[in-house]
Amino acid sequence: MANLLELTSQGDVATISDESKLSSVVLMTPQQLYELWERQPWSTHTIDFTQDREDWANLSEEDKDHITWFLSSFFIGEERVATQFNGLVGAYESQSEEAFLTTQQVDEARHAQHFNNFYNKVVGYDGTFEQRLDRARADLNESFKILFDDVLVDANRRLLADPADMDAKVDFVTTYHMVIEGTLALTGQDTLTRVFEDRGILPGFLEGFRRISQDEHRHVAYGTWFLQQKARESPELARRITATLQELIPIAAGVLTPRGFDIGDEYEILGVRSDEVHGFAFQALTRRLKVIGVSLAGAPEDGAPVAA
Ligand SMILES: [Fe+2]
Ligand SMILES: [Fe+2]
Repeated sequence: MANLLELTSQGDVATISDESKLSSVVLMTPQQLYELWERQPWSTHTIDFTQDREDWANLSEEDKDHITWFLSSFFIGEERVATQFNGLVGAYESQSEEAFLTTQQVDEARHAQHFNNFYNKVVGYDGTFEQRLDRARADLNESFKILFDDVLVDANRRLLADPADMDAKVDFVTTYHMVIEGTLALTGQDTLTRVFEDRGILPGFLEGFRRISQDEHRHVAYGTWFLQQKARESPELARRITATLQELIPIAAGVLTPRGFDIGDEYEILGVRSDEVHGFAFQALTRRLKVIGVSLAGAPEDGAPVAA
């Protein structure tokens, strides 16, 4: 069997391009992911934004508008996933899972700090952290608000009310790790990183963004491991994962759709085409679902991995 540790430093199966390996891959456990977190520390407050301020001043107003649309989704998204995570921490089933989940909550707070620093020191939003969040909220679309303010908040509340509710835990991880992190965040990170690298701009932002992406792959690796365990244990839970994804994927497509466009429209923003963005998101999701052993169509996948 392929050893995932040898295939990627972050433990996320979406980076495996050889699809024939997906059905035999051995996922990292929460204990291994916790130990990986200990080996990947970083700091937001030592990042130098001097060059970023100069680059920002030289951008066109149109580019600034497109970039802030992308970044505001991340800024608010990191705040939402940091504050709506405590239900899952309390729903741990082993000491290793508890250790990993507490690291994830710290990571999300650190990610929000990076965006707050960038909006404060580079984009130039004055005031407090809270005032910058309020201002960034004006950039968000309706789909974003449905997913992050309604669906995510409700999933966290259900887990807080009953940490032993396995349906609620599976719904939460499907929403948070598969849709929000795996489908939206990593797609946006891949897109924006390529844009800024190609233009050679915003090095301080990119320094933090690459570390955030490394953290997110580790988080999604946990979600893939958890859902694989539950799908193997229970066909009912496997069907539940599929049903939640079928409900949320159209909303996620709306989150990825920029201002001024409707879902399904073709567009190009910052030199990136809509089919590239949506194709990346769909491919990453389907690779993870193959490993979990479910499909968007509903029936468990043929050849789904057997229990180790
Ligand atoms: Fe994050
Ligand atoms: Fe995350």
